This record gives sequence, C-alpha cells and structure tokens, in this order.
Amino acid sequence: MEQKRLAGEKSTEYIKDGMIIGLGTGSTVYYMIEKLGDMVSKGMKIKAVATSHSTERLAKTFDIQVVSIDEVDHIDLAIDGVDEIDSSFNAIKGGGGALFREKIVASLAKQVIWILDESKYVDAVGEFPLPVEILPFGYTHTLKRLNDHSLNPELRVVDGNTFITDNGNYIVDLHLGKHLNIREVIQKLNSVTGVLENGFFINMCDRIIVGSEDHVKVIDNPCKYGGNGAIGKYK
Ligand code: A5P
Repeated sequence: MEQKRLAGEKSTEYIKDGMIIGLGTGSTVYYMIEKLGDMVSKGMKIKAVATSHSTERLAKTFDIQVVSIDEVDHIDLAIDGVDEIDSSFNAIKGGGGALFREKIVASLAKQVIWILDESKYVDAVGEFPLPVEILPFGYTHTLKRLNDHSLNPELRVVDGNTFITDNGNYIVDLHLGKHLNIREVIQKLNSVTGVLENGFFINMCDRIIVGSEDHVKVIDNPCKYGGNGAIGKYK
C-alpha cells in the first residue's frame, strides 16, 4: 500500500491551478485523489472528469468539483493506475473494469501519467489477463468467437454475479500469457463483432510514476515525452 501511496501522492505535483484533470480508477488512484482533495481544501482550483462512478463518488467526498466529460473541451492531465506496463510503454489496464472510460479520457488528455507499484513494471505484458469490454447482447456467441481465436476468454464474475461495467456491458478476461503478439491479438479482437474495447493501452502515456519501498521513480516515455501523438499505435 505504501508503494501505491508514494506514487499516487507524487503524481499530484503535476497538477496545476486551473487544470482540468482526468481522474482514473483504482486503489493507487485513491491516494492521488486523497492528496488532491487536500490541495483543493487549501485553495487549489481544478475541475475533474471521472473515469468511473466509484471515482466520481470518491472525488466528491473530498469536495473535488466533478464535471461531465461532455462539459469540457479538453483535459489537461489524466492520472490513472495500470495493471502491467513494460519499458516500451505497452500496458494492460482494466482490472477494475473501467477500461473503456479510462481509454476515452486518456485519449483526450494533453498529458497522461500512470501511477503504479513496482510489481507492475514488467519485462513483457500478458501475465495479467487482458480485460475486454463486450456487449451483453449475444455474449455467448462473442465468447465462442474469442475462443475460436484461441484467446482463452473468461467472463468476469464477481461474487457469483456477472460483472457489469458503468456502461452496462460485460467484461471478458483473456488469459494470454507473456509471449503474446499484441498486434495480432488486437487484430483478432477488432474482427469480433460484440467486442467494444480492449484493455491494451499502447504508448498512451507520457510518464509513469513507480512507487517502491522507500522512494518513487519517474520514468518519461522516450517515444512521446511531452506530446500525445502516438495514441493507438496498433489500432
Ligand atoms: C481500472 O479499470 C484499472 O485500469 C485500474 O487503473 C488498474 O486496475 C489499477 O488498479 P489498482 O491501482 O487498484 O491496482
């Protein structure tokens, strides 16, 4: 938890007065929002767009002004968690099921920062199951087609109930393993009607903040530091 706290709190140093901030989802983001709430209570003026209902509720408990994504014409900075990321900034997100909104917010943001504990900074992504949002209508057929593509799909079930996203859809977790070919998996997913979005976030962030036992490391994306041009490299 301390690693997540260190990363989350460090990320707030990039938040400046007047910014529109994209708030991610998850336990690491919790610490960023808690600290941001403190900054707001001391007079900082920001607006926030939330990537999930749970984040919206959390931000409001800290008196952070939350606006709808359709009320803003841009997002200055999005700060979010991540499930796995490698040194080429290939990432998997969506462990909390918020990947679709997270991807929309990240794609609109001028700058994107992800915060993580060091266990998530890996040599190759794929061990963490890839979350994929699918339409409930015809989901058994969608699952079958994913299976036909050897993508090892598992419908997400929580406490005995099918997990429902904030968008009213289902999540399928793909058990792919580390030796996956990202481009090939994305092509297969894009060929399946019923698949709405996948949890690959390829080269979408500008920097990561990695929390370790007693320090944080800031790693800038060598391919796109300072810009947002390379979004969706494989799409
Ligand atoms: C939410 O859907 C995810 O993308 C989270 O950002 C990710 O799972 C990281 O969550 P934690 O910070 O809770 O590990």
